Parts: sequence; structure tokens; C-alpha cells
Amino acid sequence: MLKAIILIGGPLKGTRFRPLSLDIPKPLFPVAGLPMIQHHIEACAKVPDLSEVLIIGAYPKNDLSQFVQQMSSTYGIVIRYLQEFTPLGTAGGMYHFRDQIRSGSPSYFFIMNGDVCADFPLLEMVEFHKSKQALLTIMATEATRQQSLNYGCMVLGKEGEVAHYVEKPSTFVSTLINCGVYLASLEIFQTMADVFHANQQQDHLMQLCGNGRDPAHIAFERDILTRLAGSGRLFALPVLRWWSQVKTAGSAIYANRHYLALYKQKQPNRLASMSNDSCNIIGDVYIHPSATVHLTSMLGPNVSIGPNTIIEPGVRIRESIVLANTHIHAHSLILHSIIGTGTSVGEWARVEGTPCDPNPNKPFAKMENLPLFNVNGKLNPSITILGTSVSLAAEKILLNSIVLPHKELTRNYKNEIIL
Ligand code: GDD
Repeated sequence: MLKAIILIGGPLKGTRFRPLSLDIPKPLFPVAGLPMIQHHIEACAKVPDLSEVLIIGAYPKNDLSQFVQQMSSTYGIVIRYLQEFTPLGTAGGMYHFRDQIRSGSPSYFFIMNGDVCADFPLLEMVEFHKSKQALLTIMATEATRQQSLNYGCMVLGKEGEVAHYVEKPSTFVSTLINCGVYLASLEIFQTMADVFHANQQQDHLMQLCGNGRDPAHIAFERDILTRLAGSGRLFALPVLRWWSQVKTAGSAIYANRHYLALYKQKQPNRLASMSNDSCNIIGDVYIHPSATVHLTSMLGPNVSIGPNTIIEPGVRIRESIVLANTHIHAHSLILHSIIGTGTSVGEWARVEGTPCDPNPNKPFAKMENLPLFNVNGKLNPSITILGTSVSLAAEKILLNSIVLPHKELTRNYKNEIIL
């Protein structure tokens, strides 16, 4: 039997995802029509013998209870949310809930960062892990030399063994990076216990340092992976499939495009298709069945339309996510943008952002995940985001801007954050 853990952090994480995370926990933000971590759950549900998914985070239980119920009934596996009393780090929560993870004696368990999106190679990881008799297998991919510094970096020894691991190094170590997806054997809890007890002994010192962390805090990368590197039991499986972090709203658009492309390969019935009674579709488009889209509108490529949304005649949408209950009035244009729940875009309005895709000329380039402002205090060009329940008046232009919830916009805006 196998299990999976999905780490989702808490409300204080994911700040670069605002204002989209103001109304909905970031792990539940819909990408290609499904909450971000539903893609993880769906990948897990396809692994034979995987019978339980434990979501670990510091969000209040109520934020996730409905989602967890829905997921259990959709996929027919046990799904539970375990709430940390305070953020315990990427391994502290797993150690805290170790009895729940170990119950039923799973042979192995996956650990998945909730803020990554990928064509998860879970079956390959199981085969690889078994063949190596590993304690832990890391899904790995290539990054550019410069971008590798933002990730965990590994140097491999013989047969995929990790000889050296450095988390977010300050100088170049390797272009092989940690994807934040792992397969672990149960003995990993022994390593966590060693780290936990060492930390407890240093507890009084830590309090003196005043770092504000709970003594049960354990960082999986710095405390566990670094310790296991070179032990002969930590392995990495380099993969060439699509993988990306989702740290910023811009990276949600990028992830949306890739999940839609995966639907085309694996579940084409999820994508909207052209027929006599449909609107004009270009490329990969997801339309929730409850949305009403006028025949004369044109959507795509890479567009997701949420539940109960109304799209009037002549609308053009490209490379964008439109969330639930929005009203897109006639002849408006939406490009490289995210339109928040319950928002209204007026007739003939234009909402446009700047694409922030990885550099196509650099092999293995990843999303940049730039902060909102550059060093000169200016807004970095990015996608345009309309928060929840915003109203944009007819014939207005909104370019490269971020609009917080409940704003009424009656003029044009360019490169602004509208608070
Ligand atoms: N339950 C819980 N508790 N989850 C947490 C906590 C915590 O205290 N802190 C972070 N997480 C979750 C986050 O929500 C995210 O899904 C994942 O753990 C990793 O979060 P970060 O700590 O922000 O790390 P990172 O994303 O910068 O780097 C990690 O992922 C990269 C790949 O995306 C590292 O594992 C890197 O080595 C790796 O390259």
C-alpha cells in the first residue's frame, strides 16, 4: 500500500500570489479548471495501490473541509486534511503526524509540494525507488545555471545517487534541481527523529537566537536532504517532462497552458471542441459546463473559464484564466490576464497583461517568479489581475495592472496596483 502527502503551507505563505490568495487558499486556486492540488490528487489516484492522501498545512480546517470531502468522493480514496498548530516547516508537519502517515504500514509514501505543477512521473518514481532500495527518491529536472540558485541543487554520483545537496546555494552547484516531489520509505522518520531530537537539545539556544520558530520546526531540504546526501540512500530521478513552480499569478497562466496541453494528450474530452452550437475555439480551452459562452465569442489558445460565467457576443479571450461567476460583456478583449470571481468586464473594454513565460531561447529555462516591484520601486511587467468582485466600466483599458478586490474602475489604468 502507498500513501501521499501534499504540503500546502499556510495563509502566511503564498504572499506573491496575492491578490488571488485573498479569497481562496492558494492551493485551491483553479488551474485548467481544477484546484491546483486536485492535479496532485488526480495523479496520486492513478497509482495502483495508493489508498490515502494526507494534505498537511496550517490553513484553518474550514478552508479545506468541503474540498477534501469532494475529492474523497470523486476519486474514491481516503483524503484527509491535517492541520499544523503553527507552520512546522516542510518536514516538521510530517514528523508531527508521523503516526497517521505510518498507520497501515505503507511500503512508501509520496511527498509533494502543493505549489508545483507537473506531469507527475509517479509510477516511474515507484519503479526507480524499488530498484535502488532507496530511502528517498527526488524528482529532479534541469534548470539554467542562473535559475538553479533558486532551487535545491544536486550533484549525482553513480547510478542516480545524490552525492551532494545544497538548498538554494549562493554560488553555482549544479543545474540539476529538486522538483519538490519525493518518494520516501518509512525509515525516513528515523532521520526526522534524529533531527528533531538534535533540535530539541538546541531548543534553549534557538530561543536565545529568537528566530521565532517552533522547536518542532524541521526543514525537509536543509535538515534532511543535506544530511542524507552522500549516504548512498538518497537518489534522484531526472525527468524531462513538464514541471513548474507556481509562486506568482503569472506562473498560474503558464501552468494553466501546460495542464490544458496534458488534457489534450490524456483526457481530450475535458477540452472544449468546435461544434455548430459552440463558440469559436482556438487551441486548448477549458469551459466549465455551467458557463454560458456566446456563439460569436472566440476563446483560446490556453483559456480556462470557470463555473457560472457569462461571456457575451464578440468577446475575445486568449492566454487567460476567468474564474467563477464573472460576467464578460460584449466585444471586450482579455489577454494574459486572470479575472477574479464575481468580476464584471464592461462592453468593449480591453484587459491586457504582459506574458511572463520562461525564455524560449534558453533550454531548461523556468518561470522567473519576479517580485511585484523591481529595484527601482517600479511594477515589474506581468499579467493583469482583477481581484474578486471588481467592476471595469465599458470601453476602458487596463494594462499590466493588479486590481484588489471590490474596486469599481471607471477610467483607464496602465502599470498600476489599484488598492
Ligand atoms: N505543511 C507545511 N508546513 N507546508 C509547508 C510549510 C510548513 O511550515 N512551509 C512550506 N510548506 C509547503 C509550501 O506550501 C510548498 O508547497 C512547499 O512546502 C515548499 O515550500 P517552500 O518552503 O516555499 O520552498 P520552495 O518552494 O522555495 O522550495 C522548495 O521547492 C522547490 C521546488 O519547487 C524546495 O524543496 C526546493 O529545493 C525545490 O527546488
